[in-house]
Amino acid sequence: MHVTACNGSPRKTWNTATLLEKALEGAASRGAETELIHLYDLNFKGCISCFACKTKGGKSYGRCAVKDDLEPVFRNIEEADAIILGSPIYFGAVSGEMRSFMERLLFPYLTYTDPPQSLFPRKIKTGFIYTMNTTEEQMTERGYVQHFILHETVLRMIFGASEYMCSFDTYQFDDYSKVLSTRFDPEKKLQRHKDIFPQACEKALGMGARIAESV
Ligand SMILES: Cc1cc2nc3c(=O)[nH]c(=O)nc-3n(C[C@H](O)[C@H](O)[C@H](O)COP(=O)(O)O)c2cc1C
Repeated sequence: MHVTACNGSPRKTWNTATLLEKALEGAASRGAETELIHLYDLNFKGCISCFACKTKGGKSYGRCAVKDDLEPVFRNIEEADAIILGSPIYFGAVSGEMRSFMERLLFPYLTYTDPPQSLFPRKIKTGFIYTMNTTEEQMTERGYVQHFILHETVLRMIFGASEYMCSFDTYQFDDYSKVLSTRFDPEKKLQRHKDIFPQACEKALGMGARIAESV
């Protein structure tokens, strides 16, 4: 059993990466081999709208035809038993790199038929971990959930069962005194990081274990 996670944060040791590692730890506790791919290490762009993946009888039908660092990632995902994506929220949506990755990963598997169908050959479980600076209430007010539901719907349609979790009001910098950020109370942020972030880690651990158990 192989579970692959993709980190859509440029930071390899912060909130998103930590939660992805926890999710993989949960999956490993159920016997999975795991792998964490940092998208910011790779050279790639978003979908270029060439439609080679939808060209009838074409050699790239159902696959992304663009040759770059995502090629081996897509081969990895074709073999995986589950995938877990993680992204910080940037301006109300996933990071640019995660967005580009999702365009390239998802579009080739989605047929332009009515109803749309999935060309992914198997059913695998997927999870999504979102981290953000806002509180849960602000997230609701700002409508972020619409994005999460859309991603969940597309992931479910293409791959099979999907779930997501969020971590709110995250700790953002090593040293708040060095950064102009008067909007935030550094002590409250640190306290929350100590008290609440470990709960998010537990949730991620549970998600990883659940996903691996269902393979
Ligand atoms: C460019 C940029 C834009 C951001 N925009 C938002 C936002 O719209 N909403 C929000 O809640 N947090 C926003 N944040 C905060 C990050 O989502 C949050 O700190 C996240 O946990 C960072 O993940 P990381 O620690 O894994 O890098 C933004 C951060 C950056 C750097």
